[in-house]
Amino acid sequence: MKIRQATVKDKKEAMAIAKSLNEWFNKDGIKNMAIDFKMNHVIVAKEKKKVLGFLSYTTYSGKMLLLWMGVYKGIQRSGVGKALVDWLVKESKRFKLYSIEVETLPEEDIYKPYERTRAFYYKNGFERVLYKKARVKGWDDQIVLEKKIK
Ligand SMILES: CC(C)(COP(=O)(O)OP(=O)(O)OC[C@H]1O[C@@H](n2cnc3c(N)ncnc32)[C@H](O)[C@@H]1OP(=O)(O)O)[C@@H](O)C(=O)NCCC(=O)NCCS
Repeated sequence: MKIRQATVKDKKEAMAIAKSLNEWFNKDGIKNMAIDFKMNHVIVAKEKKKVLGFLSYTTYSGKMLLLWMGVYKGIQRSGVGKALVDWLVKESKRFKLYSIEVETLPEEDIYKPYERTRAFYYKNGFERVLYKKARVKGWDDQIVLEKKIK
């Protein structure tokens, strides 16, 4: 498996994976992800020329922001997500950034699929640091998780 910056074709494959993960990403999420893919970095994990998973990121004020990630459902839990986060940790070290931050749904919002998402982030060294109340109708409350870069 190789991790590299996504080409336009890779981004299309990554969007197809995102659309198939419909327990996590709804129509608005997919629409916003398409914009974020255009404006920010996207890396993909590939094997035999096929995209298995993706991660989109940017930086802001000394922090790495993990915007979106997803792994093809048929191969979740086989280390692809961890490999993508490990790549981001190395990139954060290269730029001497303080941390990686990601937003996700809180424990208070009972919904099974995101329990698994949080389990993944916690296992990979992220800690809950902030609760963000939704400010706009239709938005969800979010928590900010942080992984300090040592
Ligand atoms: C979250 C996600 C990216 C993780 O990728 P993955 O390739 O499945 O994860 P990995 O195989 O690298 O898991 C690494 C560790 O995280 C933990 N973990 C991962 N998935 C888990 C789950 N469903 N339940 C509990 N722990 C989990 C485990 O400890 C796992 O190690 P182990 O399998 O040796 O026990 C992937 O499951 C996914 O695409 N989810 C749907 C979309 C999503 O939630 N995206 C993030 C929000 S933007």
